[in-house]
Amino acid sequence: MIKNLNDINDLSGEQVERLIALAEDILADRAKYQDSLKHRTLATLFFEPSTRTRLSFEAAMLEMGGNVIGFADPNSSSATKGESVADTVRTVACYSDIIVMRHPKEGAPIAASLRSPVPIINAGDGGHHHPTQTLADLFTIRREKGRLDGLTIGLCGDLKFGRTVHSLIQAMSRYDGVRFALVSPEELRAPDYILEGALRRPNVSYQETDSLESVVPELDALYMTRVQRERFFNEADYVRLKDSYILTLKTLERAKRDLTILHPLPRVNEIAVEVDDDPRARYFQQMFYGKVIRKALLAAMLGVSV
Ligand code: NCD
Repeated sequence: MIKNLNDINDLSGEQVERLIALAEDILADRAKYQDSLKHRTLATLFFEPSTRTRLSFEAAMLEMGGNVIGFADPNSSSATKGESVADTVRTVACYSDIIVMRHPKEGAPIAASLRSPVPIINAGDGGHHHPTQTLADLFTIRREKGRLDGLTIGLCGDLKFGRTVHSLIQAMSRYDGVRFALVSPEELRAPDYILEGALRRPNVSYQETDSLESVVPELDALYMTRVQRERFFNEADYVRLKDSYILTLKTLERAKRDLTILHPLPRVNEIAVEVDDDPRARYFQQMFYGKVIRKALLAAMLGVSV
């Protein structure tokens, strides 16, 4: 049983496997699950903007027969009156069975879970973690590649503030023979806790570079990311770094034919629109898989036998 999901390490490798297997089954027979979450209510508390994460959770719940309440804009909640996250969560737990929460402060979902009688899912906390995006990423990679071990993965862009990258590195570093190519400008390198934690495992190797071109031919998967404007202390730095990498068809000329191109989205400029029609571009499929694996997660966390 999964109590709260704050960090991808809250799930064992075996639990991830079970979620992927359940997601496969949901994908194969959606109708079988249409009443699985009947009479259950999901609350989505989004203190930061979101399109895919919130709507995919809501669609997941509705497609399984459940109900949804929540807010997409904290300005419409009592947070603007000064209510603490802990009090908000205590309140919402009276009206729901599970809470999905996104917050600009690192650690807010963990703090909330200490006060919540119902399970809390972290849908992104500041520049920290984003475990359900990682489930979407793992499910996509598994479906595209047929495996999660023995892959060379490039992560490109804002590796410092990009929470999706932190969670994905933590998750992928648990598989055998994984090689990471970490591509970023010097100022946006992955934080030390990632470099000195997950990447130090004996089954993992990694290189850091600022050149996407130099690593592209080796990659099985390429995970592009947006420069996280909202985490910068000053706009001038963002403007200087925002277009550090733009993936184009030209860059892809030297890439493997079976490369899988991923992006958690939203995209700003880092993947040229011309790439969308290349069969290697799988980021739109990835966001669809996000809904499917979130269905599996909700069912598992609500303890329904499916
Ligand atoms: C990501 C996020 O919120 O961290 N988006 C998402 O959930 N798919 C990535 C981003 O905002 O760049």
